[in-house]
Amino acid sequence: MDELIACAVKAREYAYAPYSKFKVGAAVQTKSGRIFSGCNIEDSSYGLSNCAERTAIFKAVSEGEQQLTTIAVVADTTEPVSPCGACRQVMAEFGIEQIILTNLSGKRKILTLEEILPFRFANGDIVKDGEKNND
Ligand code: THU
Repeated sequence: MDELIACAVKAREYAYAPYSKFKVGAAVQTKSGRIFSGCNIEDSSYGLSNCAERTAIFKAVSEGEQQLTTIAVVADTTEPVSPCGACRQVMAEFGIEQIILTNLSGKRKILTLEEILPFRFANGDIVKDGEKNND
């Protein structure tokens, strides 16, 4: 857990946040034991900005890792930083069951996916009752 947090802290240093000035770092652990880190990347067209959590998750998935277990996220906040709704949904998509929220002073909050995103939309919801998914 300490290693994952250290990777998130390191990734935060690479944050590209010239508009909000709010730097965020994240690191995700795969079931196979690998770690992928990410930072937030903003754009002058603000809506195109990407959060640190999704950067880390998309890096893992684009390197062939779809089974993810834990994510750590860090920012320079008073309380451990809380992921946005979009990132929570993406965490759910790839089965991240443990979410570690931290800040630069080392305060931690460890939550489960169920705690952070109850009643979420999921893959199984796409298939209607009685229908078969052929994939
Ligand atoms: N941000 C993250 O990267 N992760 C979070 O959990 C919250 C918000 C980013 C998006 C944007 O670049 C900046 O923080 C301010 O919202």
